[in-house]
Amino acid sequence: MRKKIIAGNWKMNKTLEEGMGLVSEISNMLKDEYTGSASVVIIPPFVHINAVSKLIAENSRLASGAQNCSNHKSGAYTGEISTEMIKSCGATFVIIGHSERRQYFNETNDWLAKKVDAVLESGLTPIYCCGETLEEREANSHFGILEKQISEGLFHLSAEQFKNLVIAYEPVWAIGTGKTASTAQAQEIHAFIRGLIAAKYDAGLANSITIQYGGSVKADNAVELFSAPDIDGALVGGAALQSRSFVDIVKAMA
Ligand code: PGA
Repeated sequence: MRKKIIAGNWKMNKTLEEGMGLVSEISNMLKDEYTGSASVVIIPPFVHINAVSKLIAENSRLASGAQNCSNHKSGAYTGEISTEMIKSCGATFVIIGHSERRQYFNETNDWLAKKVDAVLESGLTPIYCCGETLEEREANSHFGILEKQISEGLFHLSAEQFKNLVIAYEPVWAIGTGKTASTAQAQEIHAFIRGLIAAKYDAGLANSITIQYGGSVKADNAVELFSAPDIDGALVGGAALQSRSFVDIVKAMA
């Protein structure tokens, strides 16, 4: 059985106090209301990770993560955060290659491959994001784009390393726009990604990898999305900023 993972990416939102309040609410609501199988990952800005990790330590369903990391281990890289620092603050996941990093910070597949290595070397779990823009989908080049993102970012890994990855398919046109990919569109891409992994490694490995969908996931579209055979959870942005909407998405996963 593949792991089901719902992750909430806060992006650059919430002060420490607001964040602590949100996490307490989420933790309590999950204890009271959720008996399903999903793991839940809270991904706040770097500066809140330590406090969030401490707050959720008692709730075994919850884990924390970082939104980015440096590909360097340590040294004179002002403003950067290493995977060892992230780990020492209690996080276990790191998002790599979110479309906002690709778009606003010019992160390329080759560059992201190094970050994936750094995350795996520290024993953390990368959540590697991929997804096409609207222009790419309209030009029908999305399969090629996704293949490039997956192969250039991940296919240097050994099968042993690959096992420790999570992939998030996030069509750029669906992020923060209120436009969700239809379940059929998302399922098609998830199956395509699994096929790429099967062709490069083997079907057993491909079937073991958690592939999340991301892009305007809300409580009212989550049930249908999660019913698709290759969708193993969600990477949630906007709806992760409120306890009720986030917990309702988690509850959509049996
Ligand atoms: P959204 O963001 O849920 O606000 O569309 C998703 C993401 O960027 O991970």
